Amino acid sequence: MQQRKRHRIAVIGLGMRLGMLLRAARAEGWDFDLAGYVDPAPVGLPLLAEQGIEAGAAYPDVPALLADGPFDLVMIGSPNHLHLEHLRASLDHPGMVFIEKPIVRTEAESFEAARLVRERGAGRVLVGLVARSAPIVCTALERLDDGVIGDIISIDATEHLPPAHGAYLARNWRRRVEWGGSYMLDKVCHDFDILGRMVGARPSRVASFGGRRIFTADTANVSRDQGPAILRRLSGWNAAPDISGADMDVTDHQVAIVEYANGVRLSFHSNTSAAAPERRWNLIGARGAITIDLVQNTMVVTPLETREAIETFRWRGPVGDSHGGADQAMARDLVAALDGERAFPVSVTDSLVAGLTVMAIDRALAENRIVDCAPLWTQLDAAEAGLAA
Ligand SMILES: NC(=O)c1ccc[n+]([C@@H]2O[C@H](COP(=O)([O-])OP(=O)(O)OC[C@H]3O[C@@H](n4cnc5c(N)ncnc54)[C@H](O)[C@@H]3O)[C@@H](O)[C@H]2O)c1
Repeated sequence: MQQRKRHRIAVIGLGMRLGMLLRAARAEGWDFDLAGYVDPAPVGLPLLAEQGIEAGAAYPDVPALLADGPFDLVMIGSPNHLHLEHLRASLDHPGMVFIEKPIVRTEAESFEAARLVRERGAGRVLVGLVARSAPIVCTALERLDDGVIGDIISIDATEHLPPAHGAYLARNWRRRVEWGGSYMLDKVCHDFDILGRMVGARPSRVASFGGRRIFTADTANVSRDQGPAILRRLSGWNAAPDISGADMDVTDHQVAIVEYANGVRLSFHSNTSAAAPERRWNLIGARGAITIDLVQNTMVVTPLETREAIETFRWRGPVGDSHGGADQAMARDLVAALDGERAFPVSVTDSLVAGLTVMAIDRALAENRIVDCAPLWTQLDAAEAGLAA
C-alpha cells in the first residue's frame, strides 16, 4: 500500500473478526492508530498483540469512546444483536463507520437501519461483506458482466464447513437466534450478496428445509474440535462449554431454493460439519457454465459449444489467510474509501438485500411455506426513500 495519511480508529467489539482484520490490514501496510475500544471481554486482543499492534485504551462504553474522537473510522465488530444499537450510537460521531456483516439481524432491524442510514449515515457506512473484495469474486463478476456464460439460467451453490468450524459455531454466540440471527444469516449472507449481484435481480420467492441433527446431546462427546488451535482456544463471548447444542436454537444444516425476479433459480446446500469441506458456486448460463470454488480458490469457465474448460484461474492468499486474500483486499478498499479515492465495493442496500433474502429463507423454514419476498422489497424501498411502508 502506498504511503498515505495515518488513520485514527476506534473499535466497538474487539473480537476475533476485527482482530484478524486489523492484523491483515496492518500486514498489508495500512497505517492506522487504534485509539481504543469498547468491549467487556475483548477476545481479539491477543491477535493484535501477536502482531505488535497497540489496541489503545479500554473505554467503559460507547459514548466515552466517541467523546475521545474525532476518528477517521469507527469499526463495529460486536455480536450481531448489538449491531443496530452500535450503528446508531456511532452515527452520532461525524466520521465513517465500518460495520461487520450481517449489518443487522431481523426484518424490523433492517428497515430501521435503512431509515437510520438515510437520515444520519448516507455515504458514511461501510459493511464488511468481505467476499466482495475477494480477488476471485472480483474476477468472476467481471467475467459474468462480460457475458462469458450468457444469461444465467440456474445456480447450484454450497457451503459445507469443516467439523472444527461447525463446532466453533455450536459453542460461540452464533448458536442462538437472539444473538446471531440464524446460522445462514451469519454464515452465508456473503454468498447471497454475491449471488444476488451475479443474478442482477432480487429474489421473488424462497423455500427452505433445515434443522439440527449434528450438534445434539448424542454427539456431545464426539470430538469435532480437531482444527486450527485458535478455534479450540477461543469460543468467544457467551460461549457454551461444549458442543452438545443444549441451548442452541439455530440450524446446523439447511437447504434453500430461491427464484429471482428475472427467472433465475438457485439451490443452496449448507452443512456445518462436513468431512469434505466445500464452498462452491456453479452457475449455468445459456452459453456456458462457471464454477467458482472458494475452498480451492479456483474458477473454471466452460463454454457450451466445446464442453471443455477454456479458462482455469487459481488465486493464492497470504499464508494462514482464510479468505483467499479478501481481508487484505478489503483493507485496501477501506483505505481507498476513507481517502475518497473510490467507492467501497458493497453498498448498505446490498447488505440489507442480502440479509433480508436470508431472513425470508429462515421465515420459509420456520413457517413451513413458500415466502413471497415482494413485501420485503416494498418495505425496504419505502424505508430507504423515507416513506412510511
Ligand atoms: N466478514 C467476515 O468474514 C466475518 C467473519 C467473522 C465474523 N464476522 C462478524 O463480525 C462480528 C463479530 O464476530 P466475531 O467472530 O469477531 O465474534 P467474537 O465473539 O470473536 O467477538 C465479538 C466481540 O464482541 C464483544 N462484545 C460483546 N458484547 C459487547 C458490547 N456490549 N459492547 C462491545 N463489545 C461487545 C465480545 O466480548 C467479543 O470480544 C459479527 O457480526 C460476525 O458476524 C464477520
